[in-house]
Amino acid sequence: MSAPNKSYDPVEVEALKPEEIERMRDEALAAFAAADTLDALQEAKVAHTGGTSPLALANREIGALPPQAKAEAGKRVGMARGAVSKALAARQAELEAERDARVLVEEAVDVTLPHDRTPAGARHPLTTFMERVADVFVAMGYEVAEGPEVEAEWFNFDALNFTPDHPARQMQDTFFVQGPQGADAGGESGVVLRTHTSPVQARALLERREPPVYIVCPGRVYRTDELDATHTPVFHQIELLAVDEGLTMADLKGTLDHMVQALFGADMKTRLRPNYFPFTEPSAEMDMVCYVCRGESVGNPDRPCRTCGSEGWIELGGCGMVNPKVLTACGVDPQKYSGFAFGFGIERMLMFRHNVEDMRDMVEGDVRFTRPFGMEI
Ligand code: DAH
Repeated sequence: MSAPNKSYDPVEVEALKPEEIERMRDEALAAFAAADTLDALQEAKVAHTGGTSPLALANREIGALPPQAKAEAGKRVGMARGAVSKALAARQAELEAERDARVLVEEAVDVTLPHDRTPAGARHPLTTFMERVADVFVAMGYEVAEGPEVEAEWFNFDALNFTPDHPARQMQDTFFVQGPQGADAGGESGVVLRTHTSPVQARALLERREPPVYIVCPGRVYRTDELDATHTPVFHQIELLAVDEGLTMADLKGTLDHMVQALFGADMKTRLRPNYFPFTEPSAEMDMVCYVCRGESVGNPDRPCRTCGSEGWIELGGCGMVNPKVLTACGVDPQKYSGFAFGFGIERMLMFRHNVEDMRDMVEGDVRFTRPFGMEI
């Protein structure tokens, strides 16, 4: 190792000249002052205090100086570096304070502002009511089944024992999408918008092959009616089908009573009146006790009931024991199995359950109608 060079004059070492050190310090201070963001300050910090900064390089020269010169140069450089790091810390604190103040303003939340003014939507009462009805049956072990709305004429009519010349097949009742209609068609099947949810009965039986079959089928159906206060060309039905060994009309009646009690209250009941449907035998029209007057308007002129016309009963829909011809058409042995079915319109039921007077309110999508039903899910 070489001994210190006693004749070495620090003034001659360019980097250690006092004015050079001052210049380095002033440049650093100017760079910090000019940095207007924390990122820019970080760059200036690396340039003026890092390992290859002018002051760090000058510091490295000190070691080679003679003792006296070493002390002087060391003091000078040390003071300059001290001033630089002090200025850096001060600028750092300044910029951080500015950032914090800015963040406070930019990210401020005015808790006095009115909250979300867009009203939350509500599910349509038809949807929620249909789900509610389906739930009553799901709770009894039924499965929810679905079928297409654009349906084969065969499923909509033939499989359900509608004769080829049945009036329901005519254009004035049914939207035909394609193809032939009944008697004029020479046995060919067209395509219709389903006029009821009953074709799902045939689909379920054919899909499952072997009973027991317990299904509930809510869905949209179509008929060529004009939209008015009591009709709409697109409406909803819910269909029920049970096929098993030993089912009787008593099972049907018990199931209907349970349904109206679950939907309208424990004291509700139903009654059956003879009727005709091609796909049930025997068939019946089902009524339930009037939801509004509970039968008290009957023979009581002081308390007339608009909902049931003071009849005491409201007609709900059709039902019956599945016609053996339908079971046979769907590959089920009518000797072994029997079944019951029923179907009814959801709009009608919703109308008297909630005193809706005009069917159009249910299809027009005006939120003033749906909102009072709330967000029931
Ligand atoms: N599909 C019939 C209609 O739309 C209603 C109906 C009647 C359904 C009797 C049934 C039933 O399941 O058994 O008018």
